[in-house]
Amino acid sequence: MTSADNPQAFKRDGRIVVVGASLAGLRAAEALRDEGFTGSLTMIGDELGEPYDRPPLSKQVLAGWVPAGGTALPRRRGIDAEWLLGVPASGLDLATKHVRLADGREVPFDRVLISTGVRARPWFVESEGALDGVFVVRTREHAESLQRALAAGPSRVLIIGAGFTGSEIASICRERDIPVTVAELGAAPLALALGAVIGEVAADMQRAHGVDLRCGVKVTRLEGDAQGRFRRAHFDDGSTIDADVAVVALGSIRNTEWLRESGLAAGVWGITCDTGCRALDINGRVTDDVFAAGDVARCPNPIYEYRLISLEHWANAVEQAEVAAHNMVSAQADRRPHLSIPLFWSIQFGVNIKSIGVPTFADEVVVIQGSLVDHRFVTAYGYRGRVTAAVSFNNGKWLDHYRRLIETAAPFPPPCPTPDRPTDMKPVPVDFPGPTLLAQGATAVVTGHDPGERRVTAVHQHRQEEGRTTATETPGTLQRIFDYSARADPYPLYAELRKTPVALQEDGSYVISTYREITDILNDPHLSSDVRNLSRPMPSVEGGGTSSFIHMDPPEHDRLRRMAMRHFGPPHTPGLVTGLEGFLTATVGSLIDGFAGKEQIDVVDDFAFPFPVTVICHLLGVPREDEPRFHLWVNDIMNSVDYNPKTDPKEKLDKGVQARKDLRQCLGGLVEQRHGRPGDDLLSRLANDDGPDGRMADAEIVATAKLLLIAGHETIINLIANGMLTLLRHPQVLQRLRDEPDLVVPLVEELLRYEPPVQIIPWRAAYSDIAVGDTVIPKGSQIMLMLASGSRDPKRFHDPDRFDPDRRDNQHLGFGSAVHLCFGGPLARRETQIALTELVRRLDRPRLVADPPPYRPSPVLRGPIHLDIEQGDG
Ligand SMILES: Cc1cc2nc3c(=O)[nH]c(=O)nc-3n(C[C@H](O)[C@H](O)[C@H](O)COP(=O)(O)OP(=O)(O)OC[C@H]3O[C@@H](n4cnc5c(N)ncnc54)[C@H](O)[C@@H]3O)c2cc1C
Ligand code: HEM
Repeated sequence: MTSADNPQAFKRDGRIVVVGASLAGLRAAEALRDEGFTGSLTMIGDELGEPYDRPPLSKQVLAGWVPAGGTALPRRRGIDAEWLLGVPASGLDLATKHVRLADGREVPFDRVLISTGVRARPWFVESEGALDGVFVVRTREHAESLQRALAAGPSRVLIIGAGFTGSEIASICRERDIPVTVAELGAAPLALALGAVIGEVAADMQRAHGVDLRCGVKVTRLEGDAQGRFRRAHFDDGSTIDADVAVVALGSIRNTEWLRESGLAAGVWGITCDTGCRALDINGRVTDDVFAAGDVARCPNPIYEYRLISLEHWANAVEQAEVAAHNMVSAQADRRPHLSIPLFWSIQFGVNIKSIGVPTFADEVVVIQGSLVDHRFVTAYGYRGRVTAAVSFNNGKWLDHYRRLIETAAPFPPPCPTPDRPTDMKPVPVDFPGPTLLAQGATAVVTGHDPGERRVTAVHQHRQEEGRTTATETPGTLQRIFDYSARADPYPLYAELRKTPVALQEDGSYVISTYREITDILNDPHLSSDVRNLSRPMPSVEGGGTSSFIHMDPPEHDRLRRMAMRHFGPPHTPGLVTGLEGFLTATVGSLIDGFAGKEQIDVVDDFAFPFPVTVICHLLGVPREDEPRFHLWVNDIMNSVDYNPKTDPKEKLDKGVQARKDLRQCLGGLVEQRHGRPGDDLLSRLANDDGPDGRMADAEIVATAKLLLIAGHETIINLIANGMLTLLRHPQVLQRLRDEPDLVVPLVEELLRYEPPVQIIPWRAAYSDIAVGDTVIPKGSQIMLMLASGSRDPKRFHDPDRFDPDRRDNQHLGFGSAVHLCFGGPLARRETQIALTELVRRLDRPRLVADPPPYRPSPVLRGPIHLDIEQGDG
């Protein structure tokens, strides 16, 4: 049956399937029958039992007033449906019009409604989340077991996350006189959903009711006892708290994974729909037979500039389900848009909170009625001079008034409609945190298009078939990669990580681990290397002084890189690297001469370490007598990069800071001396250059020279040490290199792929929302790029875990990609080629003393800290 062709026939005997048998699903089914639909209706749901209502779960059920079983949704009418419960849908085939169930059954449809809602975001370490006493609250079973735990009189309850659900549960705990601690990463409870002004009121309310409220902190670990019972939580400030119940209230995840292969525009923010609730496919076309409603849908709203909005609101689920049902059985001309203004309520600490509109769509907020201190007020929210939302505390009767203001785009701030006008009615900035946190705490999130920003990338069908990128947590994998025990062989963990190419972490950052996604995003102009574009500030990476261009974005980055490049390689200085051959060979030769008489050598300390600083000092024109100081400074800086506050003395950090200062000062002095004295070294050339971009300022020259020293130091040490280690593990290749020295060129490329010194680019910032595959990374997010994992991606490299110097088409990620592609690549390659060729040629039967060797602490710049080898008969 072609559903669109004959609405009357479809209404009479069409087949409709509803996936997700809860609030939106049930209300849609009732509305379908109200509309006169007499065809077949199938309800698919993964939960067993009658559809029930969720808002009471965190309120009356936990308070013990209503049993969990007493929350069934009232039936408005019979729906005469076939119910397939207790089994999830696992796929949707639009071509054959079937819903696939996890048990293998296939259910045909003419039209389908998707209302699979959201689920609770679990604790990010699976084993900790499974401890007895750790809860989430989304289902009836969850609420029932938490209610039992509360009734048992716990010594303390820890609530992680102070959004609506977390705050409501804290309120219930206090009503039951249970000591409760609330831990919130943001600045205040509810601030993610309603902004800082209301956040402060909510914080006051919690404290006044005896909640131990801790904001701006992160829970890092949940600890259990020998019986597997939760006992203690650890915070990122080093403190701990003892409790025997923990409630993880970290927001939700939309149930869209089962639609991965469907071709629908379904992702972390939900299923994109038009205002008629019709789902869009990945190329933005309306699919006329697929509809979505409730928490899983994401729709544009004309009142909010047609931006896409994701809601987790009870009233929205009901209204949207009714519109979807109407449109499913109506001819095109009779279809209606779903245009209602979002409405939400919550009850906590004796206060009735109501919100109308989308508070996160605002730049200013004003207290318009009543008083914050009395916890009885209305605040209005404005965006570019018009009213977009209002929130009331114990003053809900006024919300209809504000609804009208929102609908008519009334000017902001609006006049106070009552005599209880506050004395100070000055609007203040609304102050929402970055979008990554919003995703965890707000019940209404604007996820759609700002005309000034590019928000969508076309995702072509062939990419879909190759496997989807999905933003979700990868519990523990990243932590295990960072753990020192993985340093010798992180590659199996990277393989695990690649199962989720774009992985959203518990702290809101994203980890990207597959080749295609890494190269896509590195080439995306909205990816920023400037720390200021992160929504959560990070410690300074430069340690004072002018930033170098590695931490800048175009056009400033390009200008400085261009100015430096003029003196560092083709086209203006084409002979730089070849001109250094003699110097490189002589330096390598004299270092190897130093091995004479030694049976055991440390390839790192005795060779790889002194080599690159000598080369870069020579290039820059650092006087020979200053060179030892440069070695020491670079050493101290590199040590401090690995600083671990838990195990390292602070002295290590201080030494790094001092070394950066000394290095800057010394380089500054050298630059000053070079003015007016053109010479062949890099500092003289930079100080006297009047190229098309003008002249670099002295501070810029110093920052660039410092960057060259640091960027080209540990990287080369690691490449040489990783190279020797790999050759000693592959004796036939080592022998081949001895016999065929030209092999060194592809061999070094293969090393950069197989054992790259730069394993991870630890942070980049999303300058605006960035689409990677089917995931939209929100503006301000921190993005971590797992280069070493990308270079071992089996989708890009055949047999990637094999070291194969004959490999063709070896476009590894060892030097990064795009605008920040390593500046020193040609020099690094030649240094390593000469080093390895000479080591292999001159060492006598080299053998590893320890395999694996000890590694440096860093998972980012990875390599052995020592590489002891024996040679000769020793
Ligand atoms: C504790 C709590 C308190 C709340 N309090 C309020 C409140 O005070 N005010 C307010 O406005 N809103 C509140 N809400 C939100 C409100 O309950 C939701 O907006 C509403 O439930 C959304 O309905 P829905 O049908 O879209 O999704 P859901 O109710 O989430 O239903 C989705 C259903 O689909 C099922 N499903 C998922 N995947 C599949 C699959 N692959 N196959 C088959 N079935 C699947 C799910 O198991 C579930 O049964 C609260 C929610 C919770 C959890
Ligand atoms: C084996 C040795 C080396 C490796 C593996 C390596 C790797 C990298 C990588 C991965 C990047 C990209 C960083 C990013 O995107 O944020 C980079 C950038 C850079 N590298 Fe290297 N590097 C090496 C040697 C060198 C040397 C010898 C120099 C200079 C003397 C150098 C100078 C730079 C500079 C200046 C940048 C920043 C480029 C920009 O921001 O435009 N590197 N390097």
